[in-house]
Amino acid sequence: MILNGTEIANKIKENLKNEIESLKKMDINPKLVVFQVGENDASTIYIRNKQKACESVGIDFELVHLEENTSQKELENEILKKNQDPTVHGILVQSPLPKHMKEEQVFETILPEKDVDGFTTTNVGKLWNQKTGLISCTPKGVIRILKEYDIPIEGKHVVIIGRSNIVGKPLALLFLKENASVTILHSKSKEIAKITKEADILVSAVGKPNFVTKDMVKENAIVIDVGINRLDGKVIGDVDFLNVSPICSYITPVPKGVGPMTIAMILENVVISCNRKITKKGVQHD
Ligand SMILES: NC(=O)c1ccc[n+]([C@@H]2O[C@H](COP(=O)([O-])OP(=O)(O)OC[C@H]3O[C@@H](n4cnc5c(N)ncnc54)[C@H](OP(=O)(O)O)[C@@H]3O)[C@@H](O)[C@H]2O)c1
Repeated sequence: MILNGTEIANKIKENLKNEIESLKKMDINPKLVVFQVGENDASTIYIRNKQKACESVGIDFELVHLEENTSQKELENEILKKNQDPTVHGILVQSPLPKHMKEEQVFETILPEKDVDGFTTTNVGKLWNQKTGLISCTPKGVIRILKEYDIPIEGKHVVIIGRSNIVGKPLALLFLKENASVTILHSKSKEIAKITKEADILVSAVGKPNFVTKDMVKENAIVIDVGINRLDGKVIGDVDFLNVSPICSYITPVPKGVGPMTIAMILENVVISCNRKITKKGVQHD
């Protein structure tokens, strides 16, 4: 069965729309600010998709587009201004940044309460300690799609290929929180196919087309394809979908799988950030 990320994301967006209408009745206009530095065609497409998604649910969107030769200090100063701006609830810095910038240092500039990507050390630490922070959107989207399809996670052996700070590592923590047993694989791992074949839930976040082949997947496994790759003008995932899909019980396609879930989780994090601000002010909100 195909796990339809677009359908689930649309359902989440419908619910968020209602929540945003309620916020607006309280004179709170959720707002996301995205920083882009330089020109990168893929980034421009990703940002446009985020803008469209924001507009579809009623979140105000602002793009701060800076020139390629902007210094890191200048970018950080612009972020600090948005940290101080009470009308802004979410801040994203579109990756990749130009080579002269240290991405992780830039992310740290974002106020954790507005860090809707969940990349700051504070939010990562909260995830590690199971405290309430803002959770990284792609990992959060993976768990959500499984839950929306009522797929049990507890006790399952989850194998994640990829250990990046934005996908593999936070996703492993989220699966642990759901009481799964987790194995993480990476480029130095040995006997990858033998280990992936033991997975009840196999997640690929590698970034290589057709990396996961049929012989690496257990019969009836659940396969989540996080990869986004461009091949012959088409966007495809990491999984050889044609040959793997017949043997697994559930699989996410690319496109229309994890990608739309990631965007829905960004919107959700903006709304969470708004709600926490209200709660802090002492206004009741569930
Ligand atoms: N759908 C979405 O919304 C979404 C969101 C984010 C990312 N993505 C996509 O997901 C993919 C991964 O993204 P990322 O940012 O996590 O990438 P990344 O930082 O490049 O990480 C890739 C991971 O794959 C591992 N890897 C590379 N070659 C391998 C091999 N031969 N065997 C086993 N592991 C191998 C790397 O191992 P080492 O650590 O040893 O190098 C690394 O941990 C990309 O295609 C990206 O575009 C999609």
